[in-house]
Amino acid sequence: MRYRWRGVIEEYRAYLPVTEKTPVITLLEGNTPLIEARNLAEYISLPLRLFLKYEGANPTGSFKDRGMTVAISKALEEGAKAVICASTGNTSASAAAYGAKAKLPVIVIIPEGAIALGKLAQALLHNAKVIAIEGNFDSALRIVVEISQRYPVTLVNSLNPYRIEGQKTAAFEISDVLGDAPTFHAIPVGNAGNITAYWKGYREYYNLGINKKLPKMLGFQAAGAAPIVEGHPIENPQTIATAIRIGNPASWRYAVKARDESGGLIEKVTDEEILEAYKLISSLEGIFCEPASAACVAGVMKKHKEGYFKGYEGETIVCTLTGHGLKDPQLAVNVAPTSFVTAPPDVQKVVKLIGL
Ligand code: F0G
Repeated sequence: MRYRWRGVIEEYRAYLPVTEKTPVITLLEGNTPLIEARNLAEYISLPLRLFLKYEGANPTGSFKDRGMTVAISKALEEGAKAVICASTGNTSASAAAYGAKAKLPVIVIIPEGAIALGKLAQALLHNAKVIAIEGNFDSALRIVVEISQRYPVTLVNSLNPYRIEGQKTAAFEISDVLGDAPTFHAIPVGNAGNITAYWKGYREYYNLGINKKLPKMLGFQAAGAAPIVEGHPIENPQTIATAIRIGNPASWRYAVKARDESGGLIEKVTDEEILEAYKLISSLEGIFCEPASAACVAGVMKKHKEGYFKGYEGETIVCTLTGHGLKDPQLAVNVAPTSFVTAPPDVQKVVKLIGL
């Protein structure tokens, strides 16, 4: 074998809190495509080089796998008997998969009726114990934090620092491909772990002299779930992008730090703007992502319209597409610009419908 990607722990071992004693639990996550989105950039007349980091290409279909490989490996090393998380869906899918691989029992607490079916299917098939609470993500997070403090179960939400450590490898990969950090990095913000992780990764490469520059971090929340933008927790967050339907992010102050230290911003985009970006990414670039992922592209489109990128012509901007569109196929079918027509099994009739 000439070359084989070994997963983020082996590929970035020197930058991660692991030792030879750490049992590495991996599904060979990472090494996701960084795709230049020329069609989209042209369509929106963006005079920068736009790249999409397609994290939906991870084993369970989201960026969570980067953090989960480290969190589950360390949990195993530290003798955990079970792991627990609250989730809007992707964390639970990832924890369930890596827990299965590690033979560790996984408990997931989700907001009832508020996670995409594909994510629920993953948690169930990987055999996690799934509890749907009559509440939102924020109440689920409060419950798992308390349980993990009182019982011998390890928390694998992004409050667990190993999650952030693993997730920062996405910033390394982008830098390794581009040869430096991009000028801007746009990212959706929910519980705010990922923006924290990227900023940590970019800072580490910069401090080591591997990168020559630091990006401006551009975070985007959904308008109905934008506590950081509004400056206070949102009691009853609402958005079609269920993955980021969060009213009181755990890593709030680290997100603010990433914004301020990088000279970036955290703003909000409406569900309409999110859905427009979601459809453009799939129709112009052939990439199927989640609505939550599209929030960062929606944000870039909005900031571009406001003239924010003036003076940065030719510079690079990376958007993280955090999760795979197949997680929520019903939504895709509901909002797709076209539907299908039915026809009898007859060549002439089908030809007529095609319009040939
Ligand atoms: N995009 C997707 C697809 C997500 O699943 C999440 C978070 C985010 C963006 C936001 O990332 O929380 O680090 O700011 N999903 C978590 C979950 C909350 O439970 O799966 P963040």
